[in-house]
Amino acid sequence: MSEAGSDHKRRASLSPAAQGRAPRLAAGRARALGLPTRGTTNANRLRRVDRWLVATQVPRLRDSARPLVVDLGYGSSAVTTLELVGRLGPEVDGLEVVGLEIDPERVAAVEADRDPPRVDFRVGGFELAGLQPVIVRAFNVLRQYDEESAARAWDTMRAALAPGGLLVEGTCDEWGRRSAWVALDAAGPLTLTLATRVADISRPSDLAERLPKALIHHNVPGQPVHDFLQAFDAAWAAAAGLSTFGPRQRWVAAVEALGQQGWPTVGSSRRWRHGEITVRWSAVAPT
Ligand SMILES: C[S@@+](CC[C@H](N)C(=O)[O-])C[C@H]1O[C@@H](n2cnc3c(N)ncnc32)[C@H](O)[C@@H]1O
Repeated sequence: MSEAGSDHKRRASLSPAAQGRAPRLAAGRARALGLPTRGTTNANRLRRVDRWLVATQVPRLRDSARPLVVDLGYGSSAVTTLELVGRLGPEVDGLEVVGLEIDPERVAAVEADRDPPRVDFRVGGFELAGLQPVIVRAFNVLRQYDEESAARAWDTMRAALAPGGLLVEGTCDEWGRRSAWVALDAAGPLTLTLATRVADISRPSDLAERLPKALIHHNVPGQPVHDFLQAFDAAWAAAAGLSTFGPRQRWVAAVEALGQQGWPTVGSSRRWRHGEITVRWSAVAPT
């Protein structure tokens, strides 16, 4: 069964709070917003987004008074949270990472992995347990919600960020070979990033299956994200001659071609060589 399997049954019974609406108080204390879902995770699954965080977000953390990162929905083991600590820790003095899970049993299960303040685990949901993180990484969490609930969850998490903070919300396949995420600040979405092991795809639109909840149902003719993936496929086809130099060269050439066509790519070929592309949200946002 897929991670999203039988979700419609769960969603049908969700309370407004569980669907990510504004925080509510229950019995005098804040309730964790959301619902427990399957905890599937894997070692190294989130390496692509972590690499991007290390390459692009270290200054944001270094410049903050308290470099706190929340890993929302870490799943059935602490492995990807600990990897995040291992990747960002050497770059950011005083880094604190808190893994939040809505499922208390998953928090109890990782008790031995706690090493506060460097790494801690707590019960929490979209309200972020009252924390004010500089970065939130929420991976493979929102795809299990419906689109409206996911939009409210974005709003709730954005409102909880520290000043100048960033929410990184996305999905990937089981082994982390195909990944996509949206970066948002307090004002709204900023960028969409696609990242893949280029040798594994036949064309860029293969990544459509990993689009975040906010986009996946909008990948239809007439919608900007569909136009973007079509343009990417065409640029990829036109760069076929570069395959002899390896699929990553072909990817870089396709991304450069998209930029020349006016697609607002962000970053440089240093990122694209990793099988990444980042594009401004305004170019792919649903209309
Ligand atoms: C598929 S796992 C993802 C694990 C890990 N982040 C990864 O990408 O490998 C999703 C986890 O998110 C948790 N979850 C779902 N909604 C949540 C929420 N609102 N707040 C915190 N955790 C949540 C579920 O309990 C589940 O353990």
